[in-house]
Amino acid sequence: MSVGAAAGAGDRFPAGGLVLGIETSCDESAAAVVAGGRELRSNVIASQVAAHRKFGGVVPEVASRKHLETIVGVVDAALAEAGVRLTDLSGVAVTYGPGLVGSLLVGVSTAKALALAKDLPLVGVHHVEAHIYANFLDEPGLEPPLVCLTVSGGHTALFHLPEYGRYVLLGQTRDDAAGEALDKVARVLGLGYPGGPALEKLAEEGDPGAVPLPRGLAGEETLDFSFSGLKTAALSFLNSVRQREGAIPPEVARDLAASLQWAVVDVLAGRAVAAAARAGVRTLIVSGGVAANRSLRAEIRRRGGEAGLSVHFPPASLCTDNAAMVACAGYYRLRRGERAGLDLNAVPNLPLAAEE
Ligand code: KG4
Ligand code: ZN
Repeated sequence: MSVGAAAGAGDRFPAGGLVLGIETSCDESAAAVVAGGRELRSNVIASQVAAHRKFGGVVPEVASRKHLETIVGVVDAALAEAGVRLTDLSGVAVTYGPGLVGSLLVGVSTAKALALAKDLPLVGVHHVEAHIYANFLDEPGLEPPLVCLTVSGGHTALFHLPEYGRYVLLGQTRDDAAGEALDKVARVLGLGYPGGPALEKLAEEGDPGAVPLPRGLAGEETLDFSFSGLKTAALSFLNSVRQREGAIPPEVARDLAASLQWAVVDVLAGRAVAAAARAGVRTLIVSGGVAANRSLRAEIRRRGGEAGLSVHFPPASLCTDNAAMVACAGYYRLRRGERAGLDLNAVPNLPLAAEE
């Protein structure tokens, strides 16, 4: 059977089935075991952050080599932590796009080898879809229809999920992802990589109203985003301070961090609540690495609450890349009868909404 093909009638996937998830799309080698799509049995992540830090960002060549070195040990650790053997599994799910092609290939090849060796059903998962499903892992009552804001280093998008497996794109960034803009400014502030968490810490003591910064696409009737103007304004502000003062005083860095974070949070929260209204749903969920940001969580809770929405975020540990979310999304694909064949390939620019 080929990618996305339906299984035969005899292949019904068990309701409580154990799924091994594998994620290697960027710089985390991860494997996890999830039971029945919702119950986390193990979640192992080997982060490569230290290997990329000296370069100030992810180096694709380094990432794929690191995945190769670690993935087998990470899968073994996920099985051991869950207390299961390969033969106890009901299926294998793997991220096959979007992402870095060399990195994706390591996960896809590992998943195919395991599925072939143990005659297990295999399914490919979209990385952003997996981020969305992270919300289902700690909220047993959460069900579509809902709207999801996915906000990470590579993506900023709003999806309407009328039901499991259907994704309607409501809006997306026209240039930088929100996390990318935060990371680039954080780098100029000398906060290292990835910059989002360090910028959040620095912003705690700053004044969010101190530096006037633009809101991309303000006044437009759109659910799209634009963060490149905001990023450029923040970088030019820092440049002019540096030229004038020779360095960036700590209080200026704090104020800029707080103002930038607030500009991002303000836009994300406003569009997310507007998207839920436009789709006519009562549930709003948030996913992706930037969803770990406490200021974003508080503001979306506040505005969502005012709009009568039920708002949900995954725990911070499931916001950034992990394989539990892949296993969860894979479970629902397997239950729908989807199976991938050994022709499953890495697709670096895999679209989500067009998969309907
Ligand atoms: O989902 P993720 O691990 O990888 C991608 O798919 O991109 O997201 C990583 C992004 C980075 O841009 C990182 O700076 C950002 O999420 N991030 C945060 C926080 N934690 C991670 N941004 C703001 N505040 C945080 N606490
Ligand atoms: Zn991600």
